[in-house]
Formats: sequence, structure tokens, C-alpha cells
Amino acid sequence: MKGIILAGGTATRLFPLTATTSKQLLPVYDRQMIFYPLNTLIKAGIREILVIIAPEHSGQFLNLLGSIFKKYGVRLLFEVQKVPRGLAEAFIVGEGFLDDDNVALILGDNIFEDDFTRQIKKFRSGGHIFAKKVSDPERFGVVKFDAQGRAIKIVEKPKDWLSDYAATGLYLYDHRVVEAAKKLAPSERGEIEITDLNNFYLRKKELKVTIFDGEWLDAGTFDSLLEAGRIVKQKKLYKKFHPIVNRAIAEFNLEMKNICKKKLI
Ligand code: DAU
Repeated sequence: MKGIILAGGTATRLFPLTATTSKQLLPVYDRQMIFYPLNTLIKAGIREILVIIAPEHSGQFLNLLGSIFKKYGVRLLFEVQKVPRGLAEAFIVGEGFLDDDNVALILGDNIFEDDFTRQIKKFRSGGHIFAKKVSDPERFGVVKFDAQGRAIKIVEKPKDWLSDYAATGLYLYDHRVVEAAKKLAPSERGEIEITDLNNFYLRKKELKVTIFDGEWLDAGTFDSLLEAGRIVKQKKLYKKFHPIVNRAIAEFNLEMKNICKKKLI
């Protein structure tokens, strides 16, 4: 299983903050947002991770993440997505990296309290997504279930109420996802949608949907960004990070402090 973190996009909803840096490098309590999805993947044992970034802020990603995980056996690679053409493009940009392996895609602005290690390690084929009950489903991809609790359809940002279950930003797929992504036509908003990939697997009856209860934050607006920081602090989520991630962050901080001291002398 390989990992992809989608950390591109323009994040206009967070202007002016994202006029000077990438959304996924904004702070969520005591660390940059990108460390949360990175932690989810590293915790699950994934050691080869592609980070997809926008060209404007690519240098900042490299400065932060370029070498901090090297000595821990985590291989991070970077690809630039020039134009944000949609979430499903992650598999087209990442085709060479994936090389027919299974993949866990996580969105760079999604923060999960739950640990999905068991599901990620168990995954073999098809697709597997994770749904959560929300009060504002119209903001998300929404999963409709039948009376037996089986997923029957997924609709991206439905105008009319369909259900309260949002498809969250963690997706597991087998190697067929690359060819499926290449065949997608852009939606009304001009993007190739992850929801269409989920429906591709759903039509084949090969999409598993797991409902979870823990906190889930999509830190894409001022309010959700603030809420994310508050919940991380209140629930001490930073304490639940994998030791590799916490050590890498601590070493980076120490190195930066030493460089600053030398500059002062
Ligand atoms: O957060 C979960 C939701 O994410 C799902 O419920 C939806 O089905 C899914 O479409 C997506 O909806 P959003 O409208 O919230 O996606 P957004 O455009 O905010 O992009 C999510 C992340 O992916 C964000 O960190 C930016 C990055 N991104 C986005 C696009 C469109 C890229 O890196 N490249 C892109 O082309």
C-alpha cells in the first residue's frame, strides 16, 4: 500500500491567509496541518508517500518535509499539480509512483481523530471509504444508504437533502483507480470528481463504506480551521501522533532554533 497526500489547490476560501502560503502549511494548534494526514498514513505503516502540491508554494513544502523523515525509513516524494483539476487527478499525477500498487489517498486538509490502521492494513481490492454523520452534508460528497445500511449512491454536494453522511477525505483503492480516473469527464464545476471514482466501485459492488464516530475536521474555512485547533488542543490529539512523526517534528524545531541562534551570534 502506497500513500498519496493531496495538498495542492488554491484555497481561495482562506484568502488572505493562503495568498502567502499553502492551506496545508497553516498551523493547526502547534504544527502545520500537513502533519495530520501524514500521521494517519505513517501510523498505518505506509512508508512510501507522494505529496501533491501546487507550484506556488512547493519550496515551502520542501523546506519543511524534504528530509525530516529520511532517517526513519519514510520515503516522501513530491509532484507538482500545475492546475487543480480535481481530486481524482491525484491518481493521474501519481501514476508512475503507484506502479500498480494499492493506494490510500488522504486530503491534506483532513484531520481524523480515529486510527484507521486496521482497515488500511486489511485492504486488498476494490475501494473503501469512510463516512461520518455531519450537520452540513451539502458541503461534501454524500452517501445514501438503503434500509439494510448498504451504500446505494454517492452524490457530490447535493442540492437536495440525501442523507447526513459525508464521504470523508480518506480513500483506499486498488490499482484500477488510475485507469478509472483517466476515463472521467469533468463535472459541472469543471473538476474530475473523487465521487465519480467511488461510484465506479459502487456500481461494481466493490465499494466498502465504514461509518466512524471520532472527530473529523475538514479545515478549509476560517471556522473549521479554528475549530480544528481547538479540538486538537482539547483532545490532546498531538499526543496520539506516531513517535516517528513527533520525533521528526522535534528534530526539525531544534535544528531551526540552532540556525536562528547562530544567525544572532
Ligand atoms: O473533505 C471531504 C470532501 O473533499 C469530500 O466529501 C468531497 O466529496 C470531495 O470532493 C472534497 O470536497 P471539497 O470541495 O472539500 O474539496 P476541496 O476542493 O476543498 O479539496 C480538498 C483538498 O484537496 C484541499 O486540501 C485542496 C486539495 N486539492 C483540491 C483539488 C480540487 C488539490 O490538491 N488538487 C485539486 O485539484
